Amino acid sequence: MFRSLSAWLDDRTGWKHLLQEALFERVPGGARWRYIWGSTLTFTFLIQVLTGIVLWAAYSPSSQTAWESVFYIEHVMWGGWLVRGIHHFTAQAMNVLLVLHLAQVMIDGAYRAPREVNFWFGIALLAVVMGLSLTGYLLPWDQKGYWATRVATNIVAVTPVVGPYLQQMMLGGTDYGHHTLTRFFALHAGVLPAALVALTVVHILLFRRHGIKAKEPFRKPDAYFWPDQLLKDAVACLVIMGAVLFLAVYVGTPLDAPADASEPYSAARPEWYFLFLFQMLKYFPGETEVLGAVVLPSLTMGVLFLMPFIARRRGGHAFNLAFLGALVLAASILTILALRQDRNDPDFARAVAQARADAARAKELAAAPAGIPVGGAAALLRDDPATRGPRLFAQHCASCHRFGGHDGMGGTPADAASAPDLKDFASRAWLTKFVDPAHVDSADYFGGTRFKEGKMVRFVKRTVAGFNDAQKADLAKVLKAVSAEAALPSQRAADAAEGSDIAAGRRLIDTEAMRCTECHEFRKPNENATAPRLTGYGSRQWLIDFIGDPTSDHFYGKRNDRMPAYARDQVITAQEIAQLTDWLRRDWYVTPPAPAPGSDSGAGASASAP
Ligand code: HEC
Ligand code: HEC
Repeated sequence: MFRSLSAWLDDRTGWKHLLQEALFERVPGGARWRYIWGSTLTFTFLIQVLTGIVLWAAYSPSSQTAWESVFYIEHVMWGGWLVRGIHHFTAQAMNVLLVLHLAQVMIDGAYRAPREVNFWFGIALLAVVMGLSLTGYLLPWDQKGYWATRVATNIVAVTPVVGPYLQQMMLGGTDYGHHTLTRFFALHAGVLPAALVALTVVHILLFRRHGIKAKEPFRKPDAYFWPDQLLKDAVACLVIMGAVLFLAVYVGTPLDAPADASEPYSAARPEWYFLFLFQMLKYFPGETEVLGAVVLPSLTMGVLFLMPFIARRRGGHAFNLAFLGALVLAASILTILALRQDRNDPDFARAVAQARADAARAKELAAAPAGIPVGGAAALLRDDPATRGPRLFAQHCASCHRFGGHDGMGGTPADAASAPDLKDFASRAWLTKFVDPAHVDSADYFGGTRFKEGKMVRFVKRTVAGFNDAQKADLAKVLKAVSAEAALPSQRAADAAEGSDIAAGRRLIDTEAMRCTECHEFRKPNENATAPRLTGYGSRQWLIDFIGDPTSDHFYGKRNDRMPAYARDQVITAQEIAQLTDWLRRDWYVTPPAPAPGSDSGAGASASAP
């Protein structure tokens, strides 16, 4: 039954003959490990096609949805992370295998007549695979891919004459953005794979035409592709697959924070196998860039192309080998230099740490109940106080203020601190230190301001310094009451637990012993008030109003030191003031901890946590 069916099919297709041809390819001198590279490349390409189709089924190529869909593949879709990991690391393996294949072909002289044309096809395949790597890097639409590819498309523009047009074609307009992504996707999933298939088919047909360029001397009698060579090839493929799986499972595939054109990213680097190009360009600054970006690569490609002819001359083969060796050596040295420079660069280290933190935060927010906004994943971080707050602080406030001694992002500003340190502003700890005679006129509080000799400092240094133990205990209650005005999310548990102290503190504020309302207003109108209002002190609204206009009568009035009026003078937007406020108050979304039995979940939870 089977036999007659197969005979029927063979009659119509001749498949038996084809299979025969394929399997009984003669391998002069017997099967060898050095012939495995072509097969492994075909195998890895097949894996890329299969995993690529699965990824394609879930990927959504638009600047607003690409990151979201990759996040979905990575964290929600069943097995998606593994498929993506295999695709990611097999791509890297292909680049390595290509170099090995090229090296083997060169060393064995398999590029020489009559195999020149096939050699050229091989070079074209190399270029296509590099194109696939380059275009694939952009598709997750994360910060790293976005900024690294932006550099790459800018390099295209330095090509003489056609450069700018070429760049426009790649970008899909004058702007780098959504249309660049759709174009790269069309290249990555359509044009380049099709080209790869076509080139590979011809490559293999031509290869079959001339047969293996066997390595002499033969050590063994001739054999056939099946089973000896096929077995070796299969073992090699399994080893590669094992390595890829290991990397996919234990290293994992990176997904950076969503691409954001308004958030420059100095940690952007190309994939490691392009690092040498990146490093080389550093040696061609300004006008000379065209040499590094266009002339040198073209010359190299030209020499590669001409190698079969060079090999005809005496010493030509040796020259070719030396050239390839020098190329690999130079690329390795450049790669090592690039890695070393980055490792010794503290700015880069900080940028990488920041990028990691942003990526983790973006994923945390994406997984939150609110999910990813319709406007796209970039808004996740753009609207997040925990991410935006430090940046805004470093940019606008750190010239005078500090945050825990630094500029909000861990850096040290050029100017010395000349205004209060705002870390944990209005918390009990912050206030306790503030009304401490040893600290109130220090650089952390009023030391750098004109209030160093102001009424408050005088009050603390004279009156508070002389407090007896009972008065100190009362002052502690007062401070609890003032701090409770802020309703800080981090103090919610403490505020709730010490309600009676807080109530007592509220009464004490208005007493002659504590004197606060001699100068401050607290909870009820006070015509004598000349100092900042303590009602709602440090609360969200208080801070928004204060940052908006510290010269208001509720605050410092005309006595305001240099603190700018950010809303009144429209220095920053209302949204930015709110983000700064929420960040100072540590009021942002955090993933609720998994409930542990008997644990107290109040402290440290955010306002958005239940
Ligand atoms: C003699 C008047 C006076 C008394 C009494 C006084 N303060 Fe003040 N306080 C000020 C002034 C004025 C400022 C603003 C800084 C300056 O001019 O020295 C200030 C600043 C403050 C600030 C910082 C405000 C801000 O913008 O962050 C806090 C908090 C504060 N006082 C709390 C208290 C508490 C609590 C008491 C009572 C235990 C108290 N003050 C007693 C006059 C006073
Ligand atoms: C040019 C210096 C300067 C800059 C810039 C500045 N501030 Fe201030 N800030 C001050 C000074 C001085 C004070 C003391 C009170 C006053 O004079 O208003 C102050 C007080 C404050 C206070 C009250 C804390 C206290 O202890 O009195 C807050 C909150 C505050 N600033 C937030 C900010 C924020 C947020 C920014 C950035 C958006 C910022 N400031 C930028 C100088 C500055």
